[in-house]
Amino acid sequence: MKAAYINQTGPPEVIIYGDLPTPKPGPAQCLIKVAAVDMNPIDTYIRSGMIAAELSFPYILGRDLAGRVVESGRDVKRFKPGDRVWVTGQGVAERQGTFAEFVAVDERWIHPTPANVSDEEIVAVSLVGTTAHVGLERHAKLNAGEVLFVNGGSGGVGSCVVQIGKILGARVITTAGCAEKVEACRKLGADLAFNYKTEDVDGAVKKFAPDGVNVLWETVREPNFERTIPLLARRGRMVVMAGRDARPPFPVGPFYVKDCSLLGFAMFNSNVEEQDAAAQDINRWMGEGKLKARIDRVLPLSKAAEAHRLQEESTVHKSGALAGKIVLKP
Ligand SMILES: NC(=O)c1ccc[n+]([C@@H]2O[C@H](COP(=O)([O-])OP(=O)(O)OC[C@H]3O[C@@H](n4cnc5c(N)ncnc54)[C@H](OP(=O)(O)O)[C@@H]3O)[C@@H](O)[C@H]2O)c1
Repeated sequence: MKAAYINQTGPPEVIIYGDLPTPKPGPAQCLIKVAAVDMNPIDTYIRSGMIAAELSFPYILGRDLAGRVVESGRDVKRFKPGDRVWVTGQGVAERQGTFAEFVAVDERWIHPTPANVSDEEIVAVSLVGTTAHVGLERHAKLNAGEVLFVNGGSGGVGSCVVQIGKILGARVITTAGCAEKVEACRKLGADLAFNYKTEDVDGAVKKFAPDGVNVLWETVREPNFERTIPLLARRGRMVVMAGRDARPPFPVGPFYVKDCSLLGFAMFNSNVEEQDAAAQDINRWMGEGKLKARIDRVLPLSKAAEAHRLQEESTVHKSGALAGKIVLKP
């Protein structure tokens, strides 16, 4: 089968698009013919060696997939050949990465795809939607009627946090880096959206929520706590989930006197049950048209190196060139 893989970490040029053996599914696995995969910033950190990951080479890139079951192991109960499915959280531990024509996946990681949702749409929401769901429901415990401020609402994670925040009944404020992306955030349902490069965001947030923000979701990789802690309400919760190398100053006084909480989390720590609960809501919301994918472009899988370059430029080097997810098709 064709796959996009690496034999060493390094720049996007280390990515090889070539032939690898088609995997054989174990008793509890399904063999899935992949229809679509997507890029996540973490793919670039792993490929470049920016984060230490135990990789065995050849290492197939990619976390998520959408496709169709072509074979199921004898112990598989919920899926049969022909079923449309999606998966996130692969490419770690013993799990094969997804940038390939075929992937063998344990049944417990597999979710059905709603009939009226395309492979491209579901894969574009898979990891980022699960992240937004786990962060808002499990960690921040967002309540209906609360004010949610998403700092960076136009990206992969942020666009799902905005939409799921609205679905859960919050009043949502968000920021983006240009007029088109601000407008896109409004279309995703944000009550207020501002250009973080040209507008007085903090003033606008304070005007909208004079008592402060109940949940502040930070998507940027270098959080500015000096700026954001004063925006929090009494008992406000702040979510941080990006910026492994970030070491910003933290103003303790303004934080503790308001009974605030800081919540860090990584989606890959959530267990199968937590991810499954998120998947059920994501499927329902996407099937009902309440949660939408934000896709920048669709490329052939043979362009995996180009996809890595674009994602790295946009997220790590902050060009902001992408307006949503990159989806690739084998
Ligand atoms: N902890 C976890 O479980 C988890 C899961 C997924 C991702 N992540 C991490 O979360 C981060 C975001 O991932 P992603 O997939 O959403 O990336 P992305 O699609 O590239 O989005 C990045 C976002 O950051 C915004 N941004 C950049 N500079 C900003 C600033 N100064 N102020 C406000 N917003 C700013 C961008 O806005 P514009 O484009 O509008 O400028 C964009 O909305 C990455 O570091 C990723 O590794 C963590």
